[in-house]
Amino acid sequence: MSSPVKSASPSKVMASGRANSLTGNMTVPGDKSISHRALIMGALAVGETTITGLLLGEDVLRTAAAMAALGARVERGDKEPGTGLGPWRVWGRGIGGLTEPEDVLDMGNSGTGARLIAGVLAAYPFTSIMTGDASLRRRPMQRVIAPLSQTGARFMARAGGRLPMAVTGSPLMMPLMYESPVASAQVKSAVLLAGLHAPGATTVIEPAPTRDHTERMFRHFGVTVDSTLMPNGANKVRVVGQPELSGRAIVVPADPSSAAFPVVAALVVPGSHVTLRNVGINPLRTGLFDTLREMGADLVFKNRREEAGEPVADLEVRSSKLKGVTVPASRAPSMIDEYPILAVAAAFADGETRMDGLAELRVKESDRLSLMANGLTACGVTARAEGDSLIVRGGAQPRGHATIAVHLDHRIAMSFLVLGMASEKAVAVDDASAIATSFPDFVTLMNGLGAKLSDVPATDMPPVVV
Ligand code: S3P
Repeated sequence: MSSPVKSASPSKVMASGRANSLTGNMTVPGDKSISHRALIMGALAVGETTITGLLLGEDVLRTAAAMAALGARVERGDKEPGTGLGPWRVWGRGIGGLTEPEDVLDMGNSGTGARLIAGVLAAYPFTSIMTGDASLRRRPMQRVIAPLSQTGARFMARAGGRLPMAVTGSPLMMPLMYESPVASAQVKSAVLLAGLHAPGATTVIEPAPTRDHTERMFRHFGVTVDSTLMPNGANKVRVVGQPELSGRAIVVPADPSSAAFPVVAALVVPGSHVTLRNVGINPLRTGLFDTLREMGADLVFKNRREEAGEPVADLEVRSSKLKGVTVPASRAPSMIDEYPILAVAAAFADGETRMDGLAELRVKESDRLSLMANGLTACGVTARAEGDSLIVRGGAQPRGHATIAVHLDHRIAMSFLVLGMASEKAVAVDDASAIATSFPDFVTLMNGLGAKLSDVPATDMPPVVV
């Protein structure tokens, strides 16, 4: 295919002013986690896989380009007048059928793409080189290198297991039995994808259940996979390798991690009433929605149904008076990407919100723990990071009037733009182009509900927080 990735947009400053109310319906883009997995599984199946609702974010387009570079045929969805985007089509090569890429695989900003594809590459006896943007090149890859090396694959990475990294896959795949020290769906999925290529059963144990989209997608393609919750709370997942996969139709639900931004925006902007259609409500992803309800949110799931093995619903949300809560560390796996926007909700909630067990937040697209504590403080909110906890005292209307440096992190950018929607004065971000990794139409869709997001000349920006 011709490269599906356009060069990353130049950095763009953007301000968010106080909105009067947010009202209307919105469909947020497709789930990022499921979109990556759909493309990868399509490339490993024989024949045609169709993917409806694929996220057209830069992260996912990188995975599409990588699967094309590895020999799959990937065809973009066409514009069909009146019906939105037609499905993407992938013609896969079958398990073991991928071929050596001619060039470096550039995964952009995407930790999920890099780690899942590392799992696939571990099974192919050729050498691939993987890199990414400045944010991804800082993130730890050792967590996948350690288990995947046990299959016989060899990795050469920069100090501390950082990208760029070369992978020479195993000529004779060995099934794995791996107990992961970290609750990470990316690590689990990398091992399972490697295991798909090995004879016999591969087992991975994670310390707590994390999002199970890989397991659900495997089942959708007819792979034998089972999960067992162990008495100590750990989750044991076993996959039987070397199945014969044939193409499937996949429908990708809207991403609950993207829905999180309009949901919190509607809660904190007075007089709001918003409906979000077709949102994935996989119970391993809905920790934020549970927490918001505990805080007093008027948030209802309607029209619950199932699509391609994933539960979905329409979400109806009305602005609500929130109160602070303590969020236990045990909830982190089901809302790991939602702490930045929860911290924004907490800024509007009466009393203290305490979020524990957030060590993983330091190794996301940015150090989200520090950036949220510093950025909220700059906007006049009482907030601090204490060890692995984030503590926010809310209630008074945040002052705003700051420009936040987002450090290539889409969720930091969207979180602070939501904060600006209900602060006294505008909040700006130094680089809104990062948002395109997961939510390309964020600005248009939010403004369609009544938000006031606009480009501002650098000279008019409030002071920058680095
Ligand atoms: C993801 C898993 C999570 C999450 C990321 C997507 C996935 O990362 O933060 O945005 O699709 O498997 P970890 O595995 O590092 O927790």
